[in-house]
Amino acid sequence: MIPGSFDPVTVGHVDVIQRAAAVFDEVTVAVLVNESKRALFDIGERLEMLEHAVAPASNVAVMSFTGLLVDFCAAQDVAVVVKGLRAPADLNAELRMAAMNRHLSGVETFLVPTSPSLSFVSSSLVKEVARLGGDVSDLVPAGVSHRLTRRLAATDAAGR
Ligand code: PNS
Repeated sequence: MIPGSFDPVTVGHVDVIQRAAAVFDEVTVAVLVNESKRALFDIGERLEMLEHAVAPASNVAVMSFTGLLVDFCAAQDVAVVVKGLRAPADLNAELRMAAMNRHLSGVETFLVPTSPSLSFVSSSLVKEVARLGGDVSDLVPAGVSHRLTRRLAATDAAGR
């Protein structure tokens, strides 16, 4: 299980998904339906972009979830969560979440170091750079950059 917001999917996410798919028989990418956080892309759009990005891998499924990750893991009969680790700064939060999830249900978390060349890539920075006119086309899967530009133009026009 690879959980996240994926708002939007980046090449860093795809790297972790592909590496997990090479190790595990089956991988489920679990997209959180963020109820409290306002996402730039709605859940349908985030699923669509992910499905397109992971389409070459036949053992990867993309699903949405609400509520606790451990409950979704149990419902899908999944015992391992895989998360990417970009930098030491990610470690504190990831260790706390891993420990909490293991406490709640016994689910294990495997942390995968992101490829060094992608360690600076995050959805939030990609959105910020794109919003300010920077080129992020090599940081997101094909088609996502175009959608980002259109969406950001629409949200700016709407004054959000
Ligand atoms: O991409 P993100 O936003 O960093 O992903 C965070 C995510 C979705 C992995 C985390 O917020 C999560 O697991 N949320 C589900 C709710 C839950 O189980 N919370 C307790 C985590 S210990």
